[in-house]
Amino acid sequence: MARRPMMAANWKMNKTVREAEEYTAALLPRAADADEVDVAVFVPFTCLHEVARMAEDSAVIAGAQNFYYEDSGAYTGEISAPMLLDVGTGVVIVGHSERRETFGETDDTVARKTKRAVEAGLLPIVCVGETKEERDSGGMWEKVSGQVGRVIEELEDVDGESLVFAYEPIWAIGTGDTATPEDAQDAIGKIRDLLKEKAGEDFAGTVRILYGGSVKPENAAEIMAQRDIDGGLVGGASLEVESFVELIEAAQNAVTQSE
Ligand code: PGA
Repeated sequence: MARRPMMAANWKMNKTVREAEEYTAALLPRAADADEVDVAVFVPFTCLHEVARMAEDSAVIAGAQNFYYEDSGAYTGEISAPMLLDVGTGVVIVGHSERRETFGETDDTVARKTKRAVEAGLLPIVCVGETKEERDSGGMWEKVSGQVGRVIEELEDVDGESLVFAYEPIWAIGTGDTATPEDAQDAIGKIRDLLKEKAGEDFAGTVRILYGGSVKPENAAEIMAQRDIDGGLVGGASLEVESFVELIEAAQNAVTQSE
């Protein structure tokens, strides 16, 4: 595998500090064996400091689910890049479809957040994906290429390792209705081709693109076996340590099998 896979847990709005501590304590020793995989947990702000502290000397990366692109000021309720770095966070999800759909984030906001994250030294996981209606009406690529294109337009001179994309078709999120591995590969392959055209071969060859949307232990191996898929962004199946560990193992096995 040319790119190092990432298996990422997105807890969304779940877990108290106590629950987060228990989860992290159980995950750390289990994740230690997966030396070919980046393991990240995207946790609520309220437990981020604690999870980051616990994960400090481990292979697990503690991440945030959102941030705002200004560094400080009158932005009630927001968290900035310096604040994330201050609590030991190195990664952040940007433009998750739940932020776009429920909290009105636009392609412009997502592009500005991506740029700020990269400048600040945070690794953004930039989410893109179409709704069921868009897919059914043949508008999937117009939507996804527009989202990816707007992000690339905002960035100057960045290498492919400064960010990660996640293709998450909205109809597959939390529904149990996973995209087939072929559909996921098809969309992610197209995103990589677009990145090649817009940002060059080196960028497209090194940038990681994850798949998200009902990834679970039963389908992880098949998804991870696809040529252009570099890992998973996982909601539901990441909430229990046991099933998240199975996903990490699937990513690790995919590396071993491709060698
Ligand atoms: P899901 O969520 O795995 O529960 O479908 C994925 C995501 O929203 O990142």
